[in-house]
Amino acid sequence: MIRLLFVGDVMGSAGRRALRSHLEPVVDRENVDFVVVNVENAAGGFGITIKVLEELDSLPVHVWTTGNHVWDKKEGVPLLDAHPTLLRPANYPDGNPGRGWCVEETASGVPVAVINLQGQAMMPPIDNAFRRADEVLEEIKAAHSEVRVILVDMHAEATSEKQAMGWYLDGRVTAVLGTHTHVPTADERILPKGTAMQTDVGMTGPYAGEGPGTIPLQHPPPLRACQAGRTDAGSIG
Ligand SMILES: [Fe+2]
Repeated sequence: MIRLLFVGDVMGSAGRRALRSHLEPVVDRENVDFVVVNVENAAGGFGITIKVLEELDSLPVHVWTTGNHVWDKKEGVPLLDAHPTLLRPANYPDGNPGRGWCVEETASGVPVAVINLQGQAMMPPIDNAFRRADEVLEEIKAAHSEVRVILVDMHAEATSEKQAMGWYLDGRVTAVLGTHTHVPTADERILPKGTAMQTDVGMTGPYAGEGPGTIPLQHPPPLRACQAGRTDAGSIG
């Protein structure tokens, strides 16, 4: 048995500070073997940069996942091709930079596959996450037949879509864990065929206050979007 730790959306400088302070103690205390962290909001709430990755580089993280905001910082996009353990959702169409899954090993040599997917409901247009999940599982089987542990970061707006992915992959992957909405849900459970599921694991950062590190609904553009009744007035998550 191995122990996996998955950390939800690291939000701006406050989120990075929290990760730097708390990750290693948690890994030590819980005897964690493999760590996955979502960093799509790590650079000021939107995307990633070289500086941000360097700041987090010394932490015991095996794979970084992202989501729709991964494209927001121009300088962050080339990093997707340069860093094999920095993922973007696998269901972005062919021809985009980067990759949507990878296999890394624990210190004791256990291979772990990580798949990054993005939902379609209330999100930018993208290929179907469910069909792409089937394809990726075949790709992993073909290239790494030894893999028995598969973690899925399902980055999506709709709770229904995230739960649907959990049920769809039940018995075929180790865990389906939701990100993007930044609000943790209290529905962590083991599905009937053995897959661990939580609709959203929540974010890493401040849940109150003002400024770019704070919860998205208190961040001005999404608040304006809610007040205006127009999604073009701001982006949420
Ligand atoms: Fe997101």
